[in-house]
Amino acid sequence: MNVALGIGGGIAAYKAAELARALIERGFTVQPVMTAAAEEFVRPLTFAALTGRKVITSLFSAGSPEETLSSAIEHIRVAQENHIFVIAPATADLIGRLAHGLADDFLTTMYLAFTGPVLLAPAMNTNMWNHPATQENLRILRARGHMIIDPGEGELACGMVGPGRLAEPELIANAVASLRNRPPLRRDLEGEVVLITAGPTQEPLDAVRYISNRSSGKMGYAIASAAVARGARVILISGPVSVPEPGGVETVHVKTALEMRKAVIDRMEEATIIVKAAAVADYHRSDPPKQKVKKTAARLSLELDPTPDILAEVGRKKGDRLLVGFAAETENLAEEARRKLDSKHCDMIVGNLVSQEDSGFESDNNEVLLVLRTGETIPVSRAPKTEIAQRILDEVLRVRLALHATT
Ligand code: CTP
Repeated sequence: MNVALGIGGGIAAYKAAELARALIERGFTVQPVMTAAAEEFVRPLTFAALTGRKVITSLFSAGSPEETLSSAIEHIRVAQENHIFVIAPATADLIGRLAHGLADDFLTTMYLAFTGPVLLAPAMNTNMWNHPATQENLRILRARGHMIIDPGEGELACGMVGPGRLAEPELIANAVASLRNRPPLRRDLEGEVVLITAGPTQEPLDAVRYISNRSSGKMGYAIASAAVARGARVILISGPVSVPEPGGVETVHVKTALEMRKAVIDRMEEATIIVKAAAVADYHRSDPPKQKVKKTAARLSLELDPTPDILAEVGRKKGDRLLVGFAAETENLAEEARRKLDSKHCDMIVGNLVSQEDSGFESDNNEVLLVLRTGETIPVSRAPKTEIAQRILDEVLRVRLALHATT
């Protein structure tokens, strides 16, 4: 299998040589493509020696008119001959140009002509990494379905300490290998409107205090990004979270269960698929004092009222919309998930064992049980939430096909 290795102009360019070797060790044929700035850091000869390939460095060769013409269309050929495009190091400038479709050299032109999976391993100074412009560009690239291997933290060449250091070449090579069997990006949600709720809700106790839960919003946000990348229009109704907003998504920010209910009911008409990943508080104080409650020596009890069950209400009103609920459980996952599927009229429940370490709440990974209206129960083993999100969407579409086949 052929991998195009794009090398940007940064101090970490020398590590791309180790990456080329790690990819070859994993059985890939590697075609190096360098930007002009990359040549300032490492000589093309290094990559030619490692890969046995001519290193591509510019869009036009300075030869005869025939040679110039053949090099002018070479980016199309290289784009077609390679199955995976990995860019390491991806500099802030390169990330910006890729995000906005600027194509003024071989690497960026080939990127536009390339239709397979793209993987970017950024490396730059910490402040450049944290800059909103860089983060905004990364959101665009993530929403496009590209895999971003986040930089590691540590001391950087500039002397600063923080995120920005290129991920280890072995890790990048493993990520490339994981894409080996992935089918090309599907646009199978074109024409769909997906409404997703995500994150916790915050229920005020007084002017300064609230009850909430440990939901990070990462699962719902991953589903939003995946749905956009697959062509859907996405409405994301989000409780307070600190994960970055996915690009290309219409986000409605809410705080309380009541606000979330209103936003969902107001917008559900537009949706064809509804995914309720939010961890909605089950109880709230219906009339919290407007002032801060002062401390006394006496014991304090709180009287709480139930919040409306949004999922159950949507289940009653959903018509032929597909409805996906979540069930966060600490025990009896399969039974509880099936009970919620039936009682809330869902087409799928994503069951989550929240008692496990490095899975569920706050984690980047998850292990879930998909309980479907077709009667199937599908365990999905531990994987990044981005992968679980794709799997949930795959199964939602399959449930719809199965339901249509039986009606
Ligand atoms: N949910 C909701 N509105 C609520 C509570 C929960 O819409 N007031 C939704 C969540 O978004 C989730 C699903 O219901 O999709 C299940 O949430 P969970 O807390 O696991 O279940 P509950 O029905 O609240 O039951 P319990 O807490 O007793 O397990």
